[in-house]
Amino acid sequence: VRHFIEPNSFSLDEQLRLLNLADRMEADPAPYAHLCDGRILATLFYEPSTRTRLSFESAMLRLGGKTLGFAGAQLSSASKGETVEDTARVVSNYADVIAMRHPKEGAPLRASLSARVPVINAGDGGHAHPSQTMIDLMTIRQRKGRLDHLTIGFCGDLKFGRTVHSLTAALSQFEGNRFVFISPEDLRLPQYVKAESLAPTHQVYKETADLEAELPHLDVLYMTRIQQERFFNEEEYLRLKGCYQLDEALLQKAPADMPVLHPLPRIDEIKKDVDDDPRAAYFDQVHNGVYIRMAIILAVLGIPDPVTGKKVLDH
Ligand code: CP
Repeated sequence: VRHFIEPNSFSLDEQLRLLNLADRMEADPAPYAHLCDGRILATLFYEPSTRTRLSFESAMLRLGGKTLGFAGAQLSSASKGETVEDTARVVSNYADVIAMRHPKEGAPLRASLSARVPVINAGDGGHAHPSQTMIDLMTIRQRKGRLDHLTIGFCGDLKFGRTVHSLTAALSQFEGNRFVFISPEDLRLPQYVKAESLAPTHQVYKETADLEAELPHLDVLYMTRIQQERFFNEEEYLRLKGCYQLDEALLQKAPADMPVLHPLPRIDEIKKDVDDDPRAAYFDQVHNGVYIRMAIILAVLGIPDPVTGKKVLDH
């Protein structure tokens, strides 16, 4: 059984095949409409979500499958103290694949150790969000035509932002990328992400607090929300919230072909007037989410692409 817990749960070749499959499904979904007939996806969401849960469910329905699950731990037996290990083992009897979101880092990995079916990490605490990363890669490739030799600015809450951690890991696999981490001192990228993702391949990176000064030099800007739910004290959140606000006036300092990505939801870090700018790519990400999640489901279930006859995963 292959699980998808972090971007590098899949090899680089496998990730690229997954992106290509998502592109083919976006261009023409018809050949894929019945590939999951008779299969069931369980969405076990212990933490709030709009995009990830609904797009996983939409993806399974568009593949001809069915879904079940819970949204909110209080409606499951987790509220009585059941462990994720037991829950995953139990749900393996009800579903063919599990997508799990959990506030605790490592919970989907623990679930995968006792599950009898593939487990997809749909976001674990401040750690990782690999399916979002595949969406981000698909969107960057559509906008820039490549995933290498890019200068990528990550801005906002880089400490708790799991999408930043996973996308940094994924983009580190490609040659010639430069990373600019833009955040307040207190919300810098964790050391473990630098050690695991940037250090092994000697990635070039810079840390700064000044978004305006960096904007003219970026190929891609990845904005993030300050993650209120991960702060230990409210005072600290109130001090840092609103620290970056991208509006149309500020965006004029950026290159004309610099896409602005954001995993959403946003609070005030991207103003509404940016939505009509052609550089705004965050609703493209939402659109791509369904195709990426269709591709992930087919990948972990080992179902070949009927167009190419090939599977995404090697084994
Ligand atoms: N991008 C993302 O994970 O959004 P949700 O929290 O709404 O799933």
